[in-house]
Amino acid sequence: MELCSIILAAGEGKRMKSNTAKPLMTACGKPLIDYVLSAAKFVGTNENIVVIGHKADDIKAHLEDSVTYAYQLEQKGTGHAVMQGIEPISEKDGIVMVLCGDTPLIKGEDLKAVLDSHIEAGRAATVITAIAPNPFGYGRVIRNGENIAKIVEQKDATDAEKAVLEINSGMYFFDIKKLAFALSKLTNNNAQGEYYLTDTIEILISEGEKVGAEIVDFESILGVNDRVQLASAEAVLNRRNVEKVMLSGVTVINPSATYIGADVSVGIDSVIYPGTILEGKTVIGENCIIGPDTKITDTKIGDNTEIIKSVLVKSEVGNKVSVGPFAYMRPNSKVGDNVKIGDFVEIKNATIDNGTKVAHLTYVGDADVGKNVNFGCGTVVVNYDGKNKHRSTIGDDVFIGCNTNLVSPVKVNDGAFTAAGSTITDEVPENALAIARAKQVNKENWVKPKDR
Ligand code: UD1
Ligand code: CA
Repeated sequence: MELCSIILAAGEGKRMKSNTAKPLMTACGKPLIDYVLSAAKFVGTNENIVVIGHKADDIKAHLEDSVTYAYQLEQKGTGHAVMQGIEPISEKDGIVMVLCGDTPLIKGEDLKAVLDSHIEAGRAATVITAIAPNPFGYGRVIRNGENIAKIVEQKDATDAEKAVLEINSGMYFFDIKKLAFALSKLTNNNAQGEYYLTDTIEILISEGEKVGAEIVDFESILGVNDRVQLASAEAVLNRRNVEKVMLSGVTVINPSATYIGADVSVGIDSVIYPGTILEGKTVIGENCIIGPDTKITDTKIGDNTEIIKSVLVKSEVGNKVSVGPFAYMRPNSKVGDNVKIGDFVEIKNATIDNGTKVAHLTYVGDADVGKNVNFGCGTVVVNYDGKNKHRSTIGDDVFIGCNTNLVSPVKVNDGAFTAAGSTITDEVPENALAIARAKQVNKENWVKPKDR
């Protein structure tokens, strides 16, 4: 049996007031349409047809050739959109699922359950509905006893119909051929002068076809039409992600003040403090303490590591490391085990081996640092000459004195020391002490009594 989806994404999304196409606007870091598409794929679709019109090129640039495209050049309503969407499959026998690009909360599991009952009941159409406490704006599902009779849009509804709490999610399963037939009968005699997909329900019923509705949680069908609804959707998606992490054995002190992306994983017994944002493909080990006020993107962190008030991007951190407060790890930084990256330390495109301490006010950029090195406060790896970046190497067991400049490219060999305040421009041999600063001169009685 053929199972396809048609995803409606041609509308202008006026209420968003954005220069970005609504299906590409993001919630929890992912475009809205990606959620819909992955729910569709979860059900096992053979083909996904995305109906595009407004900002079509942007949507194509994002989805590339992962879907089939249908074009709706003028937006004359959801029924008109499906007329375009059904074109590529109109000769097929099977089921088509119609979804909207602006309902990111629908779960694949919900769709699968509705599909199963659609098939079991042998229906021509099944509408996914919900019971909503305050259903303003949604189409109302009008019933005739147990059976569904029709769907009435808010703008066309009588006061009695507006009082109905069962609403249309905008998502449906249809027999492909029967939907094609119903679409051929659509008219646009309604308040908005549009071809309403919802009218196909009444058409199929009048043809004696079996039509039903399946109720899901209102939370799963929330449509994102403006930025207030976008924030509501984001809150639900985030709560789902945070709950998944909590149920897998992680303590989250304040779930609503914690943001966790869908692709993040955190090991058991780690504790996440408020104000923490974990994004992208971040992986955090067991027994870590993360936050408060920490943002970690696409970074891998080992076990028993503590990260406080810091920002980490595309980096790797080992076990038993302490980072922050106020540290910044920029892309391509790799820190080993038992390392300390302290306050006001910036690491960029650098490797730092086990047991090294970079405790305070230090910049390490474009450098390879060995084991058990101690950086004095205020060290700068001078990696940029105004034109090019250069790389430096610091061996094992090195002691870098406070306020040292290491002018790259330069090498400090194993066991060497640099004197505080030195500007190191030449290689420092193993176990040597490099002093590169002006010698102190004291001018006795330089201050004359009358100057005071
Ligand atoms: C629609 C339903 C309503 C339902 C609600 C649920 C109709 C007539 N109404 O209303 O019953 O309660 O969804 O969210 O179907 N689109 C196109 N081309 C068009 C018009 C719309 O592709 O010409 C797309 C939009 O981009 C959007 C989706 O269809 O992704 C829904 O359109 P929208 O205008 O948001 O419909 P609603 O007014 O929300
Ligand atoms: Ca909508």
